[in-house]
Amino acid sequence: MTTVLDVQRFKEEGQRFAVLTAYDYLSAKILDDAGMPILLVGDSLGMVVLGYPTTLPVTLDEMLHHAKAVARGARQALLVGDMPFMSYHASVEQAIASAGRFIQEGGMHAVKLEGGGRIVEITRQLTSMGIPVMVHLGLTPQFVNQMGGFKVQGKSDKQAARILADAKELEQAGAFSIVLEGVPSDLATRVTKALRIPTIGIGAGSGTDGQVLVFHDMLGLTTGKAPKFVKRYANLADDITRAAKQYAQEVGDGTFPGPEHSYSANGTAAPVKAQLDEVKYGAGA
Ligand code: KIV
Repeated sequence: MTTVLDVQRFKEEGQRFAVLTAYDYLSAKILDDAGMPILLVGDSLGMVVLGYPTTLPVTLDEMLHHAKAVARGARQALLVGDMPFMSYHASVEQAIASAGRFIQEGGMHAVKLEGGGRIVEITRQLTSMGIPVMVHLGLTPQFVNQMGGFKVQGKSDKQAARILADAKELEQAGAFSIVLEGVPSDLATRVTKALRIPTIGIGAGSGTDGQVLVFHDMLGLTTGKAPKFVKRYANLADDITRAAKQYAQEVGDGTFPGPEHSYSANGTAAPVKAQLDEVKYGAGA
C-alpha cells in the first residue's frame, strides 16, 4: 500500500507521480487496480458529480458518503479526503473533529485543506495527532468568491512571495505534500525546488513532483471547452452517447435482448450454464 513515506521517497528519488480524483467504489477500484498511487476524494465532486456551480455547497456528510465508497473500492492507493468548505474554518477543534471523521468513518489515510494562514496551526495539530495533511495553495476553489472567479494566482511578485512563504510554513508545520493549482509554471518550479516535501500540480506546469487531474476531465466525461491544463486521455462522453443511442435503437427495433442475453427454463438459451442464474448488478466489478 502507498503511504506518505512512499510519497516522500518519490520526491527524494526524483520519481514523478500521478494523482487522480475518485468519487465512487467502481472508479476507485479501476484506478487502484491500474496502480494509481494516490486517490483524492476531492470536493470537486460537488461540481462534477453533484452538479453544484462551485465546491462551496458540499457538506462533510456528502464527502464522507463518497469517501466510504472509494475506500471500499481501493486496496493499495493512499486515500486523501478533501475537507469541504466550513468543515475546518470555525476552530482547530472543528478541524480535528472533521478530519477524524474522514479517517474513522470515511476510511481515508490523509486529509487535504485549502489555504495558508490559519491552516498552518490546523496542519500542525492534525499532523501531531497522526493525521497526514496535504495542503492546497494557489487557485483554491473554496476562495472563489474572494478571488473573483477561478483565476490563475501568483502572477504578481507579491502573490508569488506569499505562496512560497505559505508553502514553506506548511512544510514546517508537518504537511506531507502541497497541491499547487492554477499558478504560473515558474512559480510552481520555484516552490518545488524550495521544499523537501513533494508538490502536486494542476495547471501549474511540469516542474512539480506530481500531477493531479479530475477523473471526469481526464476521461472526457465532462464536455464543452476544458480548461487549458486538462488533457483528455479518452472521450467517454462521446462513447456513452453513442452506446446509449445504439441501446435505445436496438430496444426499439427488437434486436436487444437477443437469445444470448435471455434465460430459458432448460438453460439452453445461454451459452454459459454457470451464468444462467446470476442476476446481479455490476457482476464481476
Ligand atoms: O477537489 C479537487 O478535486 C481538488 C483537486 C483538483 C486538487 O482539489
